[in-house]
Amino acid sequence: RIPLVIDTDPGVDDALAILLALASPEVDLRLVTTVHGNVGLAQTTENALRVLHLAGRSDVPVAAGAAGPLVHPVPERAGHVHGVTGLGGVELPPSPATVDPRPAVVALAELLMSSDEPVTVAPVGPLTNIALLLAVYPEAAARIGRLVFMGGSATRGGNTTAAAEFNIWADPEAAHAVLTSTLPTVMVGLDVTLPTVLDDAGTARMAAGGPIGARAAAILGHYADFARTAYGVDGVVVHDALAVTEAIVPGTLTTVRRDVVVDTTQGAARGQTLVDRRRVSDRPSAVEVAERVDSAAAVEFLVTRIAGLTG
Ligand code: BDR
Ligand code: CA
Repeated sequence: RIPLVIDTDPGVDDALAILLALASPEVDLRLVTTVHGNVGLAQTTENALRVLHLAGRSDVPVAAGAAGPLVHPVPERAGHVHGVTGLGGVELPPSPATVDPRPAVVALAELLMSSDEPVTVAPVGPLTNIALLLAVYPEAAARIGRLVFMGGSATRGGNTTAAAEFNIWADPEAAHAVLTSTLPTVMVGLDVTLPTVLDDAGTARMAAGGPIGARAAAILGHYADFARTAYGVDGVVVHDALAVTEAIVPGTLTTVRRDVVVDTTQGAARGQTLVDRRRVSDRPSAVEVAERVDSAAAVEFLVTRIAGLTG
């Protein structure tokens, strides 16, 4: 089983991603680290604890990370997308577990240094914690087996501004540090996530699986309404769950190695991922950019796994 860490800002699709990992025998979810993002850090941390408890897995440690981006404060969060508490207005029962006393980067560094096998790290929020790990514990960061993150966009523009995808927009300096590092990285961006839509029939099948699937489906309701009104999408774009699918089953997505940098100016393109698709740069890159996906198969995988969760 692949040792896995999810670094997250739950977040509706983050909640799905965590549940998917717990439903998947290929991986062993060893640690959840939280970060500012969709809502504030205290709320994302509380949500992570509650999602794990929902699945009967409050034994998985949750360590809280960065409360804000590295350099520039973020003007607004994504409460309108995920509901004010970040889980679509659904009130999950509180967990008996408490947050790990260690800061996220410390918990992550200790896990990486003590693991006998390469650890996969799946960031599905802003990349602040990973940039901090690189800066503070480079020897631990160097032990990451695969860094499979959700964020950015090569061909589809942004979803938060015309240029920027949310996770990059919320901390462009951190994203730039990670994407230009030597970490073996897979970028799961809007190119592959936007076409990967969980429709109402899939959500209903998830709900019919049992009480955990039913809660997961309830969490999706608010997000689905937002997507319908804002983008005319019929269903839920499962962004973070697709990145975690690639972490669980390497090779789910077709990737191509590309040089990627991030616009960190204060202009209109702040947070844009500049993906060198014509190979203009000769800088060596460690980033595999996901370019193709079998969306129907990915959605089927997600529905079947979460419907099968028994806790
Ligand atoms: C990303 O932004 C967040 O709102 C989602 O949880 C996902 O990680 C999609 O752009
Ligand atoms: Ca997220």
